[in-house]
Amino acid sequence: MDGEIPFVRVGYASELEPGVPVTCEVEGRRLLVVNVGDEFFCMADRCSHANTPLSSGRLRGHKLACPLHGARFDIRTGAHLRPPGIRGVQRSRPAWSTA
Ligand code: FES
Repeated sequence: MDGEIPFVRVGYASELEPGVPVTCEVEGRRLLVVNVGDEFFCMADRCSHANTPLSSGRLRGHKLACPLHGARFDIRTGAHLRPPGIRGVQRSRPAWSTA
């Protein structure tokens, strides 16, 4: 994994429909943010296999599948769970506000 992304405010929690990843860009990096069970997770929107955006992948629980070849990642940690991804992806604490 490349390390954590620093804390940056990118939007409001009320804008996140549960289980539907949304994307944003911070310091030139494309990120995805998702609400699962009123917990908010943020990680790089880039599969470690072939740089495909993960934000359109299928989310089941805390496992996000890459839409291209099916690699799986844990949105809580960014950890790589299933090939063909080759490593985890960057993650961060999300910066969503309820205000
Ligand atoms: S690009 Fe994601 S698994 Fe191949």
